[in-house]
Amino acid sequence: MDYSKFYTPPQIANLLVRKVNVPHPDTAIDICCGSCNLLRAAKKRWKNTTLFGVDIKPHIASDVNFMEMDGRQYAIKHAKKYPLVLANPPFDFVKTNREFPLLYQGVFSSYSTKRLENEMLLANLLLLQENGTLVIILPSTFVEAESNTAIRSLIGKNYYVREIIKLPEDTFGASNINSYALIIKNSSPKKKTTNSSCVIFENEQFLFENKCTVPQKDIQAGRWYDRYSATNEAFDIRRGNVSSQMFCDKGTAILHTAKKSEQWKPSLRYCAVSGENLVYAESGDIIISRIGKSAGQWGIYRGEKILISDCLYRIKDPTGKILNRLQGHEYDFPQKGVATRYITINDFKSWYCSLSSDVNAEKSTSGE
Ligand SMILES: C[S@@+](CC[C@H](N)C(=O)[O-])C[C@H]1O[C@@H](n2cnc3c(N)ncnc32)[C@H](O)[C@@H]1O
Repeated sequence: MDYSKFYTPPQIANLLVRKVNVPHPDTAIDICCGSCNLLRAAKKRWKNTTLFGVDIKPHIASDVNFMEMDGRQYAIKHAKKYPLVLANPPFDFVKTNREFPLLYQGVFSSYSTKRLENEMLLANLLLLQENGTLVIILPSTFVEAESNTAIRSLIGKNYYVREIIKLPEDTFGASNINSYALIIKNSSPKKKTTNSSCVIFENEQFLFENKCTVPQKDIQAGRWYDRYSATNEAFDIRRGNVSSQMFCDKGTAILHTAKKSEQWKPSLRYCAVSGENLVYAESGDIIISRIGKSAGQWGIYRGEKILISDCLYRIKDPTGKILNRLQGHEYDFPQKGVATRYITINDFKSWYCSLSSDVNAEKSTSGE
């Protein structure tokens, strides 16, 4: 599937632009402007703002000063010029690590990525004037995955992450991509917390539902996502952080996604990794597949302490309370993700909570 062609729906674009607290920007730019929906939303709010659009493909937009070129090249040439930057970049791989090396400057000099949306994020940050504001839509993996902790932390330490907004699951229709919008200011944090909210559809309109605030120390540590709680219950959940690209014929044993032919038991592979912060499973831990055809399948790990791949979650369950609830319940397979099916911790939460309500209903009918 071509993930570059999913434009921001105008209602979502209008909603996001209304959330920005810039009094009156002279200019606004989108360096992957496509439909120009984000720019038009800005023009609706600020009639006198001059719009600049860049795209690698030709586009006709009479109200936008358009330039056909690579957005990253444009950003390198026009650094620090814009008070308002809007972005819904393509979600894809770059051809080589650091395809545009000049984007990796200053605080990003030691960072490296193969993801195009991450490189586009650096380009968008580069365009910002001091105190300028960026509104950017990124895949949920940017906010939730361990593999992006380093870039989240760099941004948290050097910019003011003002809002983290989870967008509705069907924002990009057939792509099944879960996404977030981030509002980031090129300044030091003005508040001690960052707002985390989601967009919901109610009474025929999209609106914000406030979820929680995230302390700046978590933002700076790259913990942007409430990974460890489901309603009132706290879980010790970790996603593995070794990708299958690190697999080899011999080396350290690692658990990877389950296979139907093996009754969904995670398969044993080998990898060449070492270091701190790796995620291990120990006997008695619950393992959940998060990706591929086995997404949502779970089981109890029995064996020696072992590494797990980033296609699995590990949940500690020392009291057996979680297992009691999961026993006998299969997971529904949600169809999600960038190019594949995968589940997130939010899915686990809603699955677990739905089992809690079953348990409560059973208790009340049995008179407990
Ligand atoms: C997901 S669409 C988003 C369009 C628009 N920003 C919106 O929100 O509706 C991504 C756009 O990025 C463009 N694009 C892809 N690679 C690009 C690049 N290297 N430089 C500039 N634009 C690019 C695509 O042509 C497409 O129009």
